[in-house]
Amino acid sequence: MPRKVGYAHGYDDDYDDNYDDDYGNYDDDYDDSEDAYRQNHDLKGNTSSQKLPLARETARKPIVWSCSICTFDNEDSALVCEICCVYKESFVKSGKEANGTGNNIAAASVASRTVKGQPEKLPVKVADKELISADSYGKASTPYERGKTTNSASTAQKVDKVVMVQKEIKLSEPFDTVSSHLKKVNLSDTSVTTKGSSESLPSCSRELNLGDRPSSSNSVSDEQYKPDKWMQFDEEKEALSQLNLAIVGHVDSGKSTLSGRLLHLLGRISKRDMHKNEKEAKEKGKGSFSYAWAMDESAEERERGITMTVAVAYFDSNKYHVVVLDSPGHKDFVPNMISGATQADAAILVVDACTGSFEAGMDGQVPGIAGVGQTKEHAQLVRSFGVDQLIVAVNKMDAVGYSKQRYDFIKAQLGVFLRSCGFRDSSVSWVPLSAIENQNLIEPATDACLTSWYQGKCLLDAIDALQLPSRDISKPLIMPICDVIRTQSMGQVAACGKLETGAVKTGSKVILVPGCEIATVRSIEHDMNACDVARAGDNVAVILQGINPSKLIPGGVICHPEFPVLMASRLELKILVLDVAVPILIGSQVEFHIHHAKAAARIVKIVSLLDQKTGKATKSAPRFLKAKQSAIVEVSLDGAVCAQEFSKCRALGRVFLRASGNTAAVGVVTRLVDPV
Ligand code: GTP
Ligand code: MG
Repeated sequence: MPRKVGYAHGYDDDYDDNYDDDYGNYDDDYDDSEDAYRQNHDLKGNTSSQKLPLARETARKPIVWSCSICTFDNEDSALVCEICCVYKESFVKSGKEANGTGNNIAAASVASRTVKGQPEKLPVKVADKELISADSYGKASTPYERGKTTNSASTAQKVDKVVMVQKEIKLSEPFDTVSSHLKKVNLSDTSVTTKGSSESLPSCSRELNLGDRPSSSNSVSDEQYKPDKWMQFDEEKEALSQLNLAIVGHVDSGKSTLSGRLLHLLGRISKRDMHKNEKEAKEKGKGSFSYAWAMDESAEERERGITMTVAVAYFDSNKYHVVVLDSPGHKDFVPNMISGATQADAAILVVDACTGSFEAGMDGQVPGIAGVGQTKEHAQLVRSFGVDQLIVAVNKMDAVGYSKQRYDFIKAQLGVFLRSCGFRDSSVSWVPLSAIENQNLIEPATDACLTSWYQGKCLLDAIDALQLPSRDISKPLIMPICDVIRTQSMGQVAACGKLETGAVKTGSKVILVPGCEIATVRSIEHDMNACDVARAGDNVAVILQGINPSKLIPGGVICHPEFPVLMASRLELKILVLDVAVPILIGSQVEFHIHHAKAAARIVKIVSLLDQKTGKATKSAPRFLKAKQSAIVEVSLDGAVCAQEFSKCRALGRVFLRASGNTAAVGVVTRLVDPV
């Protein structure tokens, strides 16, 4: 069970009355589990690194720099904004000066933790970021403390998964002890190198001409690249391939419950940990969330009963090492969802079958006010990430009596929308299920009401039926960094993320951008296991040596030493405007998202309006852009980010513009105006 501090009481108990009784039979004999766990794992009981409540943490620190994105006042020692992870400008500048490139990635950052209009949500994030500062400034911690401070390791080691809130963490042990089973991260690019698959911007996005397919011939430097023999997939040694699977959908649709239940059924959560979750959830009056707690491990998430950051967990199906990316469904955390789901090869869209809930996911939650629910928004976004295979899990079927009529209604309504997003019917599979009642998850349903009309695949079989996107190892290594973990004592540092192209092995030299520091790969970990080689598509922790750890940052990119990616602060984009109420004008301020980086940005030029079918310019320099229009625009960022033209690298070429808490536009990079 992830270890958390600062549990609070009585938040939202909507579901509790219904489900509390479900968990009454478990033994309670695990209060001492923490101690036992420490002993079992030979860990020290030092609790000094437990997070302090926000008030205490902030009260003692002078405020000295203001975030360029969320305007939060940060303490001087923080290298990144405590709220939204944007980098402190002076820190970035010092990196720039160090490498002499003139880059400024003040705004390059991990995916957003910004919570607009929700100041009450800040404590966990601030506390998390305090740890980052602590890492940088020398407070030691044991692996166990790391688990506590990151809300992960105890679970990681006990249930074979690691939760790592996206932040930098310090360890006093070598990375051999570091595990990465379930990590809690704000990730940020999706990165499917699906060669030959249909392209993917939402709704009208199919008609938005995205430009050329990525091709190594587009880049002279890529042409010079010759992959080594060791990079080839070794079928004998490596039986299963990794499949990055995003779990997305409207708030409360049951994503975390479904993920937790799958992990439990597939033996990734021990009975003991499950009992602990159940007991603690019940004590907090949230018995129905016990499976969700396997994923929602921070105190605030548990109090509020919502997921706030993406959790990464692992299980094996018959065919794949599945990397589960359990996304937040709440509207305020769409940036986090983006950062996680951008790594997806395929997605499970979880839909709540209950009357009113499905409708809220489609049309927003304010009765009488038109809007877009996150069922729609998430479906649009994952499609725009290049994901073209979708499983729609119609969850909570128990709550509607396993009604075929309701299922058919949902399938018809949502099916039309998914088609409009560009999902082909043949690439979408539909599975009616109940995560709570374990119907249709890893084996066929047993409930007579459901089996009377559904004899199709269970969820696990539907996962096995997904096709693995092709992996591009013919290009140089590109691994956008979503997490950074540091060891204080060993001076080691690990970068976590998904390899987009290329491969890396123990002993390889790599270059970090920004900073252009050369590092050596000391070791590689996947799901707690050391591995010698990681290839495109693999989600791993790469432990590096020989670099200044402070130079390794989320939002940066690990590259082949001879093929570092470019950076730019002014980019030309081809965008599709989504359902925005306010038109996009020259001067409009937006949040710019690209892989795991985020920057405050401004629209500086609207070059031309595009015909959505032909992609040809129909009007030059229009004054504004409204919903469903596509256009070429230029954006100026507060600082440079790692980027590539989409035609050269999809993962570093997909962008999202957000404004006022909504995704305003999706698009691709067509040109780096000021590449460095
Ligand atoms: P966010 O991450 O905050 O968007 O929520 P979520 O989609 O992860 O939902 P979560 O798993 O936290 O579950 C929300 C509520 O739905 C909990 O009370 C669950 O017990 C309940 N729930 C989940 N699955 C089922 C189900 O199959 N049937 C019923 N009746 N309730 C369910
Ligand atoms: Mg959740």
